Amino acid sequence: MTSVAIVTGASSGIGAATARRLAAEGFHVLAAARRADRLADLVKEITAAGGQATAVTCDVTSDESVAGLAEAAAQAPGPVTLLVNNAGGARGLDPVESASIGDWQWMYDVNVLGTLRVTQALLPALEASGGGTIVVVSSTAGLTVYEGGGGYTAAKHAQTAIAGTLRLELCGRPLRVVEIDPGMVRTDEFGLVRFDGDADRAAAVYAGVPDPLVADDVADCIAWCATRPQHVNVDRLVVRPRAQAAQHKVHRIGS
Ligand SMILES: NC(=O)c1ccc[n+]([C@@H]2O[C@H](COP(=O)([O-])OP(=O)(O)OC[C@H]3O[C@@H](n4cnc5c(N)ncnc54)[C@H](OP(=O)(O)O)[C@@H]3O)[C@@H](O)[C@H]2O)c1
Repeated sequence: MTSVAIVTGASSGIGAATARRLAAEGFHVLAAARRADRLADLVKEITAAGGQATAVTCDVTSDESVAGLAEAAAQAPGPVTLLVNNAGGARGLDPVESASIGDWQWMYDVNVLGTLRVTQALLPALEASGGGTIVVVSSTAGLTVYEGGGGYTAAKHAQTAIAGTLRLELCGRPLRVVEIDPGMVRTDEFGLVRFDGDADRAAAVYAGVPDPLVADDVADCIAWCATRPQHVNVDRLVVRPRAQAAQHKVHRIGS
């Protein structure tokens, strides 16, 4: 029977690339996010390429909506063996001193509590499959801090803590927990969301950087971890573009 993979935040960027890639690997993908139109286009594209996918409109900040995702998983045509907690993002780049409480609230709700809520809802199905994998898309921002990044790094550190804690708590059960920590990835919407639609500020993040990662690079990492034999648990995969040696050390042409 076809294994089922659930990808949250599948309407754009890393999530959409991951959904496409997992479908190409033979999973039936449940593509979840809030924007139904984007998901419908993605499912059409995957199906046209010979893959299998179902769109599930889901807001990871809502108990009711996530219960609907679990219900969709129960109706899916195979065992649920993979959950990719990818929905998330950053808002703002303000110092702690003056940061918006609302921005921090949003980052906690989506990245941290969204991961918790979706993981809790899908754990029984993942375990019942006999070999489940939970992927948490955190970030290098979950491993270190930077000025202006207080809210985002706090949220990503929390996701990293969830992954580590869960792995300890699930030890002995047929469940793996994989943390993916990308550095700089050029996706269409991440910067726009962070800078409230300011395209110039969003583009400046990547200015002069030769070959930042793209969504497909991260999807490749996720797919590789998920398709290792069940006894192989890749605890943490940190991936950055070659031009980014560290959060504070980025090579930019012309600077
Ligand atoms: N880009 C980077 O440099 C980078 C680096 C490291 C880690 N990451 C992490 O990778 C993940 C994906 O980032 P990305 O660059 O692909 O960003 P993106 O294109 O902005 O994607 C974010 C996704 O999250 C979904 N989302 C937001 N709020 C949601 C909610 N309440 N419920 C369900 N889905 C929600 C969005 O879909 P809807 O709006 O349709 O709901 C969208 O599909 C994030 O967790 C991000 O923190 C990104």
